[in-house]
Amino acid sequence: METLLNRNQLLTERALQCAAAELGVDASDLQIASVSGGFSRNRRALVSAGDKTIFVKEVDVDLLPDDGERELAWLKKDYEVTRLLQKLHPQYVADWTTLAGDGHVLMTTNYASADGWLWRPPAEKSVAERYISAVVAAVCELEKTDLPHEVIEGLQLQPFAATKLGFDDGIDQVIAEADIRRQLIDNYQTLLSEQSEFNQRRCQKMMELLSNSDELADISARAKQFAKQPEDCFNHSDVRSDNLAFHPQTGELKLVDCNWASYAPRGSGATEFLIDMARHGQDVTPWLDELNAEMLAAFVGFYLIRSLKPPLQPGDNLRQMRALSAATAYDLLERT
Ligand SMILES: Nc1ncnc2c1ncn2[C@@H]1O[C@H](COP(=O)(O)OP(=O)(O)OP(=O)(O)O)[C@@H](O)[C@H]1O
Ligand SMILES: [Mg+2]
Repeated sequence: METLLNRNQLLTERALQCAAAELGVDASDLQIASVSGGFSRNRRALVSAGDKTIFVKEVDVDLLPDDGERELAWLKKDYEVTRLLQKLHPQYVADWTTLAGDGHVLMTTNYASADGWLWRPPAEKSVAERYISAVVAAVCELEKTDLPHEVIEGLQLQPFAATKLGFDDGIDQVIAEADIRRQLIDNYQTLLSEQSEFNQRRCQKMMELLSNSDELADISARAKQFAKQPEDCFNHSDVRSDNLAFHPQTGELKLVDCNWASYAPRGSGATEFLIDMARHGQDVTPWLDELNAEMLAAFVGFYLIRSLKPPLQPGDNLRQMRALSAATAYDLLERT
């Protein structure tokens, strides 16, 4: 009964109690508002008392198929990495964050759209340029974060990108199986009609690539080079527009969701971010030098194969996002 009730709420009683304690009021005096966005199964909301508002994210194990061990570990890592960055690069992370409710509830400074914080790429060209410059500068600065081995292991910042992407067998499956190539071409054909002009052109180019075995082999070879690159740069490893807030008036930038942070090859952060920007239709020409070409090659097969199963359906945003990311990575690779 209680579980049924809770499913319809933004946060459970546990998170509300934590927020009430933090804000120094009774839970019944809290105002709770939903936030847009979010792919995960975590609960999240903006919680206010009087004129003070905080962002609250909660792992509710009742919403998860297992005991939530993985999600709880992610929340803890997010918290611990943010705390570490507060000491080393305070300008790039939330000013305040705390983990409560036996590790289930993360509370953070609210960077509200109402206060001018942007959680998506800006529409206006001059603002978008400052936005992309700010993020690229931040990820380059973060790359230089040198940490002792104990900290890297303690916070689980060990590298995974080069191996996971570089040795991914997606591109080789595509090369080996005509059936997979046909399915992909079909999917891009379906996707094509609903895309903006720049993504239509990318889908077209991807369909041509899928019929060109020499070119596919080149990309496969290039992707394998990525696995050989030294992974000595600190990376947030999930730099996308919905994981960062930018304030156009002050130029401030705040990265959230540090749970994927890890050491990675140079340029990884800028590369993943610029793919995201280009896919959103932003002109990334001024930053082409920041791209890691081998990582782009690795992303092509990685996203291609993951765009396939289950088959693309209208409204299936994740598969669609992957298909477009593969096409965008290829487009950018051609421009490096
Ligand atoms: N500190 C914050 N202040 C205001 N809004 C925020 C804050 N953090 C996140 N948001 C909003 O919530 C959205 C979802 O972020 P969140 O990180 O909770 O979701 P997610 O990435 O799906 O989750 P998870 O990190 O659990 O995988 C963001 O895109 C942003 O709109
Ligand atoms: Mg997020």
